[in-house]
Amino acid sequence: MNRINPVVTPEEIARQQEFIREIATMPHRPKTYHIVTYGCQMNAHDSEKLAGMLDEMGMTPAPKREEADFVIFNTCCVRDNAERRALGNITWLKEVRKTRPELIIAVCGCMIQEPGMAERILKQYRFIDLAFGTSNLHRFPELLCMTLEKNEPVVEVDKEDVIPEGLPVSRLRPESAYLTVMYGCDNFCSYCIVPFVRGRERSREPGAILREAEQLLSSGVREIMLLGQNVNSYGKGLENPVSFAWLLGQLDRMSVPRIRFMTSHPKDLSDELIETMAGSAHILPQFHLPVQSGSNRILEKMNRRYTRERYIERVQSLRSAVPGIGLSTDIIVGFPGETEEDFGDTMDLVREIRYDSAFTFIYSPRVGTRAAYMPDQVPEDVSNRRIRELIALQEDLQRTTLGRFLGMEEEVLVEGISRRSGAEVSGKGKHGVSITLPGGPEDIGKIVPCRVKGLKNNTLTAERKEEK
Ligand code: SAH
Ligand code: SF4
Ligand code: F3S
Repeated sequence: MNRINPVVTPEEIARQQEFIREIATMPHRPKTYHIVTYGCQMNAHDSEKLAGMLDEMGMTPAPKREEADFVIFNTCCVRDNAERRALGNITWLKEVRKTRPELIIAVCGCMIQEPGMAERILKQYRFIDLAFGTSNLHRFPELLCMTLEKNEPVVEVDKEDVIPEGLPVSRLRPESAYLTVMYGCDNFCSYCIVPFVRGRERSREPGAILREAEQLLSSGVREIMLLGQNVNSYGKGLENPVSFAWLLGQLDRMSVPRIRFMTSHPKDLSDELIETMAGSAHILPQFHLPVQSGSNRILEKMNRRYTRERYIERVQSLRSAVPGIGLSTDIIVGFPGETEEDFGDTMDLVREIRYDSAFTFIYSPRVGTRAAYMPDQVPEDVSNRRIRELIALQEDLQRTTLGRFLGMEEEVLVEGISRRSGAEVSGKGKHGVSITLPGGPEDIGKIVPCRVKGLKNNTLTAERKEEK
């Protein structure tokens, strides 16, 4: 174990397995569980690990939270509304317990790692039976065991940044799997709480990642989504440092049918990564590259460490190396001090780049982050107007951007039956865009070749070609 990337020891994981077995034999343990997940893919994957442990304890998932014996809220605190929604729903469940006193309520995830939150839970939310932070996920079996034995709340929030290896995973989608390459973030963008709640950046050993990829492949997975807050700074602090591009190259050679990854920070987007993508057979031609703002003045205040010009240059390099690459982004409006001119720069950048999709957010001050204490916080009505203008512009541009797919051959990894019609299925094409095509339940989990023929409400429709 090295200091920068401290892996939880196999002995500790084995100890937790003992608790799993102990709970499985308890006569009064909860029989069903329900996990409510907020936030990003990191949290979604943590929920799959929780489900993995719960399944091994002999519990079964309940489709509705009000029917489960055990409910876990896996929370997010990246913006105020995410946090308020979680707290609202947790409090609502307190009412359900009035009629079902045996109900056990647990809260975990990023919100629990916020300073002072553990104390607040013990004082203000006494009805919560168990609370634990993201660094304590691997200790969940022991903590649950304590909860079932004791008659008072169990709260554990560790600030030690660890890498848990070898936890069981129950995947949400059998055909597509998350694979974490690194945890935490060291970038400290001035608006962002993630480095405070997810800890310092730490990379998994490449051997562990490749072994997990092999297991996923042999279990029939068609797509691997590599996860990290900043995947392209992967490799720092390893005993034998390697780059993210190198790791991608290894996975490409293993012939995983589809490889995707997120998220990439523009400042760390290397030529090596672009070349690896250009020369690969399985890395999908898509890229999520959050820009946050088009104004150099705001980018500097955000501590993003790139300029608008450098960002545009990176996009041009990507586009010339991987023609037709699908491009998506994240944008924040109303960052402290954002003037009409700064916002105009963001609108211009969106016009210039032409994204296939954009996730747009109103800046939300987070306690402890630098931006929360900056002068000139933007009034709510101004931010509201700006985000409306930005969304309208993006929707308008998207009609043309997505138009470039018309007539093109694509391959869709089918996720499910289309919401619009029972005779259609939908999923994502290689470029990361949603596509609907004729089909039925037998197509779910398959990669179906097709030809794009239409564009309806910013979703592509396609006709099938013969199967691969
Ligand atoms: N590590 C990833 C994801 C971070 S959270 C990345 O760097 O892109 C996802 C998005 O939430 C960010 O890209 C940003 O656009 C948005 N975000 C983060 N903090 C925010 C805040 N305080 N207010 C509004 N949006 C925020
Ligand atoms: Fe937050 Fe910036 Fe880290 Fe992304 S790179 S998680 S926005 S601090
Ligand atoms: Fe939210 Fe935590 Fe992800 S704060 S966005 S769930 S890393």
